[in-house]
Amino acid sequence: MLLIFRSLCQTHLHFKMLMKMHRPILKNAFGLFRSRPRRCLNLHTQQGERQLVRFTPAVGPPGTTTRFQRSGSHGGGSRQTVRGLGSTASDSLYQSTFDKALDNASEFWAEQAEQIVWFKRWDKVLDDSDLLFPKWFVGGELNTCYNAVDHHVIEGNGDCVALIHDSPVTNSQEKVTFSQLQEQTAKLARVLIDNGVQKGDRVVIYMPMIPEAVVAMLATARVGAIHSLVFGGFASKELAVRFDHAKPKLVLCASVGLEPGRIVDYKKMLDAAIDMSEHKPHKCVIYNRPNQENPMLIPERDLNWNDVVPAAKPHDCVPVSANDPLYLLYTSGTTGMPKAVVRPSGGHAVALKWTMKNIYGLNPGEVWWAASDLGWVVGHSYICYAPLLNGNTTVVYEGKPVGTPDPGSFFRVLQDHNVAAMFTSPTALRAIIKEDSKGAYAYNYNLEKFRYLFVAGEHLDLECFHWCKQHFQAPVLDNWWQTETSWAITAHHVGLGNNLSPPHGSTGKPVPGWNVKILGSDGEVLKPDELGTIAVKLPLPPGAFSTLWEADDRFKDLYFKKFPGYYNTMDAGSYDSDGYVYVKSRADDVINVAGHRIASSAIEEAIMLQGDVVECAAIGLKDALKGHVPVGLCILKKDVDKTDKQIISEIVSTVREAIGPVAAFKKAVIVNKLPKTRAGKISRQTVASMANGEPFKIPATTEDFTAYDMVKAALQAEGIMKC
Ligand code: COA
Ligand code: AMP
Repeated sequence: MLLIFRSLCQTHLHFKMLMKMHRPILKNAFGLFRSRPRRCLNLHTQQGERQLVRFTPAVGPPGTTTRFQRSGSHGGGSRQTVRGLGSTASDSLYQSTFDKALDNASEFWAEQAEQIVWFKRWDKVLDDSDLLFPKWFVGGELNTCYNAVDHHVIEGNGDCVALIHDSPVTNSQEKVTFSQLQEQTAKLARVLIDNGVQKGDRVVIYMPMIPEAVVAMLATARVGAIHSLVFGGFASKELAVRFDHAKPKLVLCASVGLEPGRIVDYKKMLDAAIDMSEHKPHKCVIYNRPNQENPMLIPERDLNWNDVVPAAKPHDCVPVSANDPLYLLYTSGTTGMPKAVVRPSGGHAVALKWTMKNIYGLNPGEVWWAASDLGWVVGHSYICYAPLLNGNTTVVYEGKPVGTPDPGSFFRVLQDHNVAAMFTSPTALRAIIKEDSKGAYAYNYNLEKFRYLFVAGEHLDLECFHWCKQHFQAPVLDNWWQTETSWAITAHHVGLGNNLSPPHGSTGKPVPGWNVKILGSDGEVLKPDELGTIAVKLPLPPGAFSTLWEADDRFKDLYFKKFPGYYNTMDAGSYDSDGYVYVKSRADDVINVAGHRIASSAIEEAIMLQGDVVECAAIGLKDALKGHVPVGLCILKKDVDKTDKQIISEIVSTVREAIGPVAAFKKAVIVNKLPKTRAGKISRQTVASMANGEPFKIPATTEDFTAYDMVKAALQAEGIMKC
């Protein structure tokens, strides 16, 4: 207790000094001294203690408990009244906001930036003298952790719950208040500093969905370092590639992750990755999970989080420049080269905070749940940063939509934590529908507090949309964005009065700040209903990526060369005459697997590691659950003496080992030829359309037209393609 008290006093002291320095600016510009504590929504925990609760599911399988009566029809599939629809306003607020962000971007974003606490106010809102590298809030200094955590404590909301960890895989729930989060991040920040991490250094985070992963992100931000979180479903080799690329000084890792039916040995994968990589992180801080075996630590290199963090003195927030990077996030491009998106601190904080109310309709103090993983951009933005910046309680869910223990889990979480709105992917929802097509589990739960279901990551199919609307009894609102952008490019803006029953298939209207155009192949702006590349007129708004890590030229070539003056999203789509955008498909060789981008080239490189393949192509095959799954078309070397079956099985396990289970690579076929153009480019998109039974046109420049027939026959023989 004494330690906690001392640490809070120390943080408070530092803060007082800081306030003294910046009092006039802060007072006049931000009204910092006038605020009152907000009302937490029945979420106080006992002071000073992190609350750990073992729980038993509130209800059993369908039929064992009283069903909650809901408005509208039950189970029959008919359309019904949905909460929220009656309250839709006209689009005028949306339109005036969009116009203001377009016509007077500096004024618009300066107003939004007032919601963030700056250690030093910006000198200029936007410097777009180089349109490809716009600088937002030039001269401004802030700290994202300060805004996400300390600010709420100082405002008197320290006892409000910042984070709820709901973990069906460990059968526990835990609540962490803003004060507790402040204490933990401040202590871990000290450990980082004591182990040589300085402003601008990279810290890799390799952890499952536990509160410590959020603490790790925030602590890194607190000291002005740059985090790079790696999703647990990636194997050691992928982790090693990131070590060599980002050159982290330190790694924050958990002992294990718990997947249904197996334990993921994070520490073992970390050790293997460090063995493989040329760059060796100086230190690794290992968090040992309760009730799990503690891994062996490597002397000199590894520290035990459970010892060093509680013993550390808190460290204050380090001011960083608005354009200093907050994090790197790796994503798939069309080459196998690592591609890390760089996120600027200032614009990100401003934009993300703005979205919580204006797009997602959430007030501070309400509970929000993004059912994704911290390793993806959705997790970065909407499990960690945006809800905390806005003073919401964020749910960190360590479980699956199904099987932990049943397809009612999502509904149980919404009920147990009074969630007001959630964000997830169609894949996760389809997994529920597959196991509970009638929504029998859903009716066990009371979703009185639940207002909106937001989805993103991939196309939302009509069946999924209707099922969700019926069983979540809330508007189902799609939004479209990318790792590069960190927030939605198009959305249905709940807070700006957009229609909550938009036309199906649309991902919404352009979000204020995103000047979306549909371009033809020569860069001409297309008319409504014409299909083209979706592009965004420059400059990009605050929060969008500022470059690719140590690859400015690649950044310029990849995203801005094809359509000068625009950001090329590499997605294809169209507008309708009411201004709604429809996202159809990727325009490059990237496969979207369960809402995650996997490059064809990365899978092809992994296939080649098996050793018997001379050439291959990976294409995306339609999948009822995951949207698409990859399939490999492989040409074998001449002197191979194994059976095809044996080779395919080896290829599948090689890819799993090289990329990780996240690639969901389970199918390969042996072919004699690959369809190519005369220039030698493999026509992956055309083959994919053929394999998926979609209309396709064989390019006139094809080298050997019979290659298509050969691939078709091979896919049919394996039952992958229907005759
Ligand atoms: N650490 C280690 N392994 C992981 C992992 C993690 N954090 N997450 C997933 N994996 C593994 C899984 O165990 C699985 O391994 P397996 O091949 O041995 O079964 C593999 O990676 C594929 O995982 P996943 O795609 O999650 O498939 P699944 O069959 O386990 O689960 C769903 C299916 C629908 C539950 C899952 O795909 C899902 O929830 N998707 C949502 C995607 C999402 O949130 N997208 C973000 C965009 S909004
Ligand atoms: P990622 O960067 O991994 O989040 O993937 C971004 C890609 O996912 C986009 O470029 C789209 O191809 C796809 N995507 C994201 N959201 C949607 C959506 N709402 N509808 C259709 N595709 C989407």
